[in-house]
Amino acid sequence: MTVLDPRPSDLAYERVADVIPPVEWAGFADDVDAIHALKAERHTVVLAHNYQTPEIFHGVADIVGDSLALARRAQEVDAEVIVVAGVHFMAETAKLLNPGATVLVPDPLAGCSLAESITADDVRALKAAHPGLPVVTYVNTSAAVKAESDVCCTSGNAVAVLRHVTREWGVERAIMIPDEYLAANISAESGIEVVTHPGRCEVHERFTPADIAQIREDHEGVVVITHPECPPEVVAASDFAGSTAQMQAFVEREQPARLALITECSMSDNLAAMNPGVDMIRPCNMCPHMKRNTLAKIRRSLETMIHEVTLDATTAERARLAVDRMLAIG
Ligand code: 13P
Ligand code: SF4
Repeated sequence: MTVLDPRPSDLAYERVADVIPPVEWAGFADDVDAIHALKAERHTVVLAHNYQTPEIFHGVADIVGDSLALARRAQEVDAEVIVVAGVHFMAETAKLLNPGATVLVPDPLAGCSLAESITADDVRALKAAHPGLPVVTYVNTSAAVKAESDVCCTSGNAVAVLRHVTREWGVERAIMIPDEYLAANISAESGIEVVTHPGRCEVHERFTPADIAQIREDHEGVVVITHPECPPEVVAASDFAGSTAQMQAFVEREQPARLALITECSMSDNLAAMNPGVDMIRPCNMCPHMKRNTLAKIRRSLETMIHEVTLDATTAERARLAVDRMLAIG
């Protein structure tokens, strides 16, 4: 009797059995196996943001994480092809940091309300209105906006970047764009005043302090952790705020008996699969951009090598400087 090796989809299912019913997985298994074969054939690495659905996150991704982790790993990775299961600015960042790789996005329309809220002209106007202030730009922006910036940040390192750059420039204020809520939350945490821009994440802006009060009333003893793209009053009503990787680290460290994650829906599913002992309340809002990615689109992008991310060389060179400065801060 021949014993067959388990298929990649069988191994992946062991990781998601708590969050995906077998009947649903049956519809994913063929794509999971095909993507694993294509990755080996084309020397490919799949990067997936924490907001990807479990069949992508646990089924086909080689590297998962928050925006900061994905940027760091994109720079280090040795691959001919990088598929970014995230949104367009993440793929641009991967291309900036690994220009020799072919970077593919499964769906080129996977945008971001923050990235769309600001243009390079807006940044030039802010600099003209506030001369002498450093421009700290969230990575959720286009390469053209990054190119006008002094340094980038993510939600995982924004306090450190803001403190570093204001100290280095010898100033007490900075321009921090384009998320007005992230800027307000980071300003409150760091004690550094910021000038910002009226951009918002369409997912996180919808959470309210009343949502948190209701969750606490309905679920006694619940620990509430929140993404800093939420309004400051929501962060103030929470027990902890941090990037998606910081949320994950908190859950792994503290193992709260009951937990509510105030962020995008898939984050709870992915963490529930990894932390079966935590009773996860799921008050989620869905990101329509992140959800444009599917296994079928990842498979098609690898079969046909479509939707390659390309960048204008001059813009890329200037944008890379801002991202490199961020990575150097640590
Ligand atoms: P982080 O994963 O860096 O916390 O970012 C959250 C987000 O909204 C990305 O689009
Ligand atoms: Fe942009 Fe918000 Fe979606 Fe992240 S969750 S991609 S910040 S719209």
